[in-house]
Amino acid sequence: MVTTRALQCSAALVAAGLVLTACGSSSDSGSGAPDGNTSFEGRGPITYVAGKDASGVVQKVIDSWNKQHPKEKVTFIQLPTDADAQRQQMIQNAETKSDAYTVLSLDVVWTSEFAAHQWIAKLPEKQFPLSKMLKPVVETAKYRGGLYAAPSSSDGGLLYYRSDLLKKAGISKPPTTWEQMTADCAKIKKLPEAKDMSCYAGQLQKYEGLTVNFSEAVNSASGVVTDAGGKPDVDTPAAKKGLDFLVDSVKDGTIPKEAITYQEEDSRQAFQSGKLIFLRNWPYVYSLAGKSKVAGKYAVAPLPGLNGPGSSSLGGHNLALSSYAKNKATALDFMKFYTSEQSTETFLKEASAAPPYASQYTDPSLVKQYPYLPVLKESVERAVPRPRVVQYGDVTAAIQQEAYAALNGDKSSAQALKDLQASLQKLTGQ
Ligand code: GLC
Repeated sequence: MVTTRALQCSAALVAAGLVLTACGSSSDSGSGAPDGNTSFEGRGPITYVAGKDASGVVQKVIDSWNKQHPKEKVTFIQLPTDADAQRQQMIQNAETKSDAYTVLSLDVVWTSEFAAHQWIAKLPEKQFPLSKMLKPVVETAKYRGGLYAAPSSSDGGLLYYRSDLLKKAGISKPPTTWEQMTADCAKIKKLPEAKDMSCYAGQLQKYEGLTVNFSEAVNSASGVVTDAGGKPDVDTPAAKKGLDFLVDSVKDGTIPKEAITYQEEDSRQAFQSGKLIFLRNWPYVYSLAGKSKVAGKYAVAPLPGLNGPGSSSLGGHNLALSSYAKNKATALDFMKFYTSEQSTETFLKEASAAPPYASQYTDPSLVKQYPYLPVLKESVERAVPRPRVVQYGDVTAAIQQEAYAALNGDKSSAQALKDLQASLQKLTGQ
């Protein structure tokens, strides 16, 4: 629930044409410093709050911190896997000024909203090795020039494909266009072992994943949701071609009907149990699928697009410090530890999480384990950020509503895009 005050606050920001002033007073921030700058004081137990970890590696990394810091132990609080549910719980915690959450694993799209409301503390930039990290990743952690989160993992969409079946059907390389992908499926489905499989799925349930998949489809057809200046420009023929790819694929069965109920984990399970030939998902799937029935039978490629390779939405998570937390000195040390090259290498090796550090994408031993790392680096560097706005929650809700209406057949693609353009204009004041 967003409070009236927060709504008034974001309305004021919209009216100001997104020329943002920090919302809330310094007495609200709980920063402990009269100038609004955070004083990182207090040592003792803290919590780390993130979406459910399917890999089990997060707890392992926390255990190694806890061993070395018996008086500053970190408790891992796992939230639902659904990004929107995580955001809601984190906002609720901030609005009640609770100290239950210390370090937050913030989705890259929430930085502006959390920083503008002073729910998270500004961080001492010099204490994080930002120059070693990929530039677009660092940008996601900034708000009005200040650092509000420490990059922990990046994310770029990848096309997972059944390399065994492509080979068997005589297809020598993965598709780079949507048309090639459906043509490949038609060939593969002639194989007896593939006749009941579906061609493709991503994440089309009505939640943040739909915003990602919709934006990727639009961008991969050379359209935009908002232009470089943040102005909505989604009611265009190019954007329609992107949305039509999703809508038509659901209609003609290229995407199975049940995929409009899929989040990341449902679609991963479908691919792992052999139901899908192609899957759009994040890098974390690579490692888990390697322990499943399709181990050794899949590979990854860049996302396909309308006329050639598509573009991914920029995903990922950054660690932020709740303004209302106690033991901020411990929290800062833990954030440095968790986002260090050593920890991110562990997350990469054991959970195929995309690291924020540039060198880890070209390190020969890591590339040996994950041959697609150079492709992923390119995908992250070229990835399209979702709108960077304080009222991101409203913006993503509008995208989800219109994209879902089109997928569900409640509206034509043209009408959905027209309505989305109007909503986004209203929300961003542009
Ligand atoms: C992944 C991405 C995140 C995105 C979410 C959508 O967790 O890292 O940026 O918002 O998926 O479901």
